[in-house]
Order: sequence, then C-alpha cells, then structure tokens
Amino acid sequence: MIKIRKSSDCREAEVTPEAIYRQRRAFMKGSMLGAGLLLASSPLRAALDLQGYKPKVMTLDEEITPFKDATRYNNFYEFGTGKSDPARQAKDFDTSDWRVSIGGECARPGELALEDLIDSKDLEERIYRLRCVEAWSMVIPWIGIPLGKLLQRFEPTSKAKYVAFRTLVDPDRMPGQKRDVLDWPYREGLRIDEAMHPLTLIAVGMYGKPMPNQNGAPIRLVVPWKYGFKSIKSIVRIDFTEQQPQTTWNMQNPREYGFYSNVNPKVSHPRWSQARERRIGEFFKRDTLMFNGYEEEVASLYAGMDLKKYF
Ligand code: MTE
Repeated sequence: MIKIRKSSDCREAEVTPEAIYRQRRAFMKGSMLGAGLLLASSPLRAALDLQGYKPKVMTLDEEITPFKDATRYNNFYEFGTGKSDPARQAKDFDTSDWRVSIGGECARPGELALEDLIDSKDLEERIYRLRCVEAWSMVIPWIGIPLGKLLQRFEPTSKAKYVAFRTLVDPDRMPGQKRDVLDWPYREGLRIDEAMHPLTLIAVGMYGKPMPNQNGAPIRLVVPWKYGFKSIKSIVRIDFTEQQPQTTWNMQNPREYGFYSNVNPKVSHPRWSQARERRIGEFFKRDTLMFNGYEEEVASLYAGMDLKKYF
C-alpha cells in the first residue's frame, strides 16, 4: 500500500524566538557570507541579525539522514564513479572565486560571483527527501533559495521554455573528468514551470554548514520530486532556452533515463522496479511515493501528460 503524504506534513513553521536565533546562526554558517562571518566578531554578526529577516524553515516529520551518510555515500562522477570516491577526491576542490553565468533567452544576462547571486538574507532551510534512481533515499536539511527567485532577476523572455544547467569542466580540479565515463560537462534541464516551482531549490549548504565539496559545492540544484540525478552539482552556467536542453543521463542512455525523471513508483526502470526504496541507514525497504511524496504540490504541472511516455 502506498502512503501518500499530505502537504501539511511539510509545513513552513513559524518558529519561536529562541529557535529563530538558533536558525539564524545556522543560516549564517550556511551562507557564503556566513562562512566568512564565522571568523568575524560577534558584533558584526549581531548587526546582520538586526537586519530583521526571518528565515523560513520547511520541516518534514521524518528522521534526518546522519550527516556522515549524506557526505560519504555520493554520486559525483567528476570525482570518481564509486560512492565513496567523491568524499576523498573532492576534499581539496577549490571553490573560491566561483562565478556563475546566466544567459540565453533573458533580458539581463550576466556573470556573477556567488555572493552577488545569492543574498544571504533570502536563505531558507528546507528538509527534503532525495530519492535516487538507484532506489535509495535520504532526508537532508538543505540551505538555499527558491530557484525561481534567482531566475526572475534575469528577466526571462517569452521564449524561455526551459532552463539548462551545466557543471564546471576542469579535469585538473575534477580528476574524474580525465576519463570519458560521461560526456562532460554534466548537463541538466528543467521545464520553465518546474524551475519556477516554489519547491525547486538552489542550495548553497546543508546541515547548517556551507555545501560540502562532495555534495556539489558551492552551488547545486535540488528538485525533490525528481530522481537525484536531476539535482546537478557545482553549477557554473544557467541558460534559458526555447528548446528542451540535452541532459547527461538521457544522452548517455535515452531508454533508461528520460528528460522528466519524476519519481514514479508505477513506472519501472527497464532494469529494476522503482516501487520501493531503501532509506540510507535503515534495513527494511519502504514504498516509494508518487512524486517522492510531493504529489499534492506538483502533480498539476503534469496534468494530462502520459507519465509512462514522458518518464
Ligand atoms: N551532478 C554532477 N555534476 N555530477 C554527478 O555525477 N550525480 C547526480 C546528482 N548530481 C551528479 C550530479 C546523482 S546520480 C545524484 S543521486 C545526486 O547528485 C547525489 O547527490 P548527493 O551526493 O548530494 O546525495
């Protein structure tokens, strides 16, 4: 039996003053600005606190995956194809002076430093399930901003039907790129309405800390109702496009990986069922939920579509 969660299970909590204080500290730690501020004096931190922003917190009544599991069991082929490779091989990945270019069908294209792209006052904590196509899942407290909020600033034109994302290509810094296991750069894409959906997050941290390298530092996507591979890491380029963009796993194996890749227990992967999943750290498998449990929020995006055809 499939247990469907209600949207009320994910609530934007109005937090108590003490909790706000603690959350703010967590957010500050999570932001690029915050990372610097950890070293700064407390009066400076207090001054920023006084700007009066209220971090939003979206909770989920499920046990959070331990930090060590979320940071030692990763898929990040730029740093090796084994699950434990990224933690080791990305250890010294230098993400300082990171810049992201935004272009394509928009009125205000640009190349921005991270601190100009993300205003730390806008950061939110969102606890989301991440369901990997390989039938395991985790529950992770991300820190980020809704992608739509970021994209709006660049004023997409009416031709912007999709959003395309690319990861850095730099084999010297990303040793996995010395092998052709994938056609680099790693590419992903969303339909514009998926990109603008309030659940879609652009994340810069997790567990109250800046994003660990192996999880996609310094900036990655998180699309909680889609299989994990849509959540592209270490983004350097975002383009608004008129045509559906190429995506890495679809290019690699179109029979097995579609453009949409919505979590769907009723549509099997050609080589295995997607009906159940193993939550990392648990022994028994659990049922996979339609749209990974976010059906109430996102099903309307796909009204009338044949989800077996558009998998
Ligand atoms: N992004 C890039 N650039 N390269 C990758 O290999 N792997 C994807 C996705 N993003 C990947 C990527 C896959 S298959 C998954 S399941 C998630 O990242 C894993 O995210 P996590 O390691 O934070 O759990």
